[in-house]
Amino acid sequence: MDNLLTKIVALAKRRGFIFQSSEIYGGFSSSYDFGPLGVEMKNNIKKAWWNEMTKFHENIVGLDAAILMSPKVWQASGHLTAGFADELLECKKCHKRFRPDEIQHPRLSNLTSGVCPECRGELTKPRKFNLMMKTFAGPVEDEASLTYLRAETCQGIYMNFENVLNSMRVKIPFGVVQIGKAFRNEITPKDFIFRIREFEQMEMEWFCRPKEADKFFEYWLNERLKWYENLGIKKENLRQVEVPEKKRAHYAKRQIDIEYKFPFGWKEIEGVHNRGDWDLSNHSKHSGKDLRYVDEETKEKYFPHIVETSVGVERSLFAFLCDAYQEIPGGRTKTTKATKEVEILLKLDKKIAPIKVAVLPLVRNKPELVKKAKEVYRLLKPHFVCQYDEVGSIGRRYRRQDEIATVFCLTADFESLKQDDLTVRDRDTMVQERVKNADLPTHIKKLMCEV
Ligand code: GAP
Repeated sequence: MDNLLTKIVALAKRRGFIFQSSEIYGGFSSSYDFGPLGVEMKNNIKKAWWNEMTKFHENIVGLDAAILMSPKVWQASGHLTAGFADELLECKKCHKRFRPDEIQHPRLSNLTSGVCPECRGELTKPRKFNLMMKTFAGPVEDEASLTYLRAETCQGIYMNFENVLNSMRVKIPFGVVQIGKAFRNEITPKDFIFRIREFEQMEMEWFCRPKEADKFFEYWLNERLKWYENLGIKKENLRQVEVPEKKRAHYAKRQIDIEYKFPFGWKEIEGVHNRGDWDLSNHSKHSGKDLRYVDEETKEKYFPHIVETSVGVERSLFAFLCDAYQEIPGGRTKTTKATKEVEILLKLDKKIAPIKVAVLPLVRNKPELVKKAKEVYRLLKPHFVCQYDEVGSIGRRYRRQDEIATVFCLTADFESLKQDDLTVRDRDTMVQERVKNADLPTHIKKLMCEV
């Protein structure tokens, strides 16, 4: 579809999913705010991931570590050295910077000749830029108070490896999951929320015996692919890419990127890494604390190997939006007069759709209908994220709700006054059924597979 990216960006703003940060001051590069629908959707994605990991798998516990840590963590993890850096070419005249992978871009093809595609100035040779975001903890901004905003959430998990072992009595193999903010001083943030400087990660670190790491790597890769498919991403829009040694993250012995076919091409949405004993052995070396695991039965002492799955909340949300977006010329309804309009349908999985239920009086100039609809809205509101809407024709309101992926539209019509029921319309099939008001909470829960 042409201009899909432009359409998604416009929909995201128009309907309250995503706004440019600090917009009234002209915006702040690469920062985005999540609006009323965006925050609901983000929370739903995080809940779906957390449930998947902690409820549908065994031996996984959660953690919420601090963003600010000792700078020694980042020294030991290798993030302060060249390992965690982007290679960039800079124009000596206009100082614009380009990643070497942008050389493929037709507009930037001049990069190969060392000439800036923007101003024809001379480009520098590729240089490394570290991505860690610096900050100062305390009143004095000096070397002693320098620290970093975490660049990956998993380091907080390694810091607590022993605490989790001792407090939870878990045995290898086991996993620790965490969802939280991460920060990277990306030099060329771009493609809407694809590459941003402040984002959230959902990471799982699976600690296992070294000889079992390959087996678990395959297992977790498949589990993660299934998660996207179960939440509605089309199989043909997902692929796995084995990352060659030269391009792997500095800690990875093996890395497979799960990629999604975005409107601007195939791009990584999640990394699955075999980190070997990189983290625990380095933290042992730098801290002086022996982080080896002691097998109670065999008395073996070893550094567990780590299989990691790591996905950005915003990046996956972006993929879910792109995959769910549909345009239907003329609209789906044949019963009302065909209009020339293009109907937009956002077919998000019901688990991640921001609004579950919209309650609508058939018309707003009949107080009895409005009263009935408001009663039902109040009845359902404690159970589901609901909207009440009475503005415009009922057809328009259905379209408005379909455009934001609302799973069910409940309408109070004239029959409702006699029968004390409402019609329940399914977003995808548009089929309507009548349900007694008192049964609605249980009925909708059943449809949402929550009972
Ligand atoms: N702990 C491993 C790790 O951080 P990564 O491949 O650097 O691995 C994992 O990042 C995921 O985090 C990516 O697949 C992506 O979904 C998300 N991510 C990374 N950098 C990002 C950025 N600048 N903006 C948005 N999401 C990002």
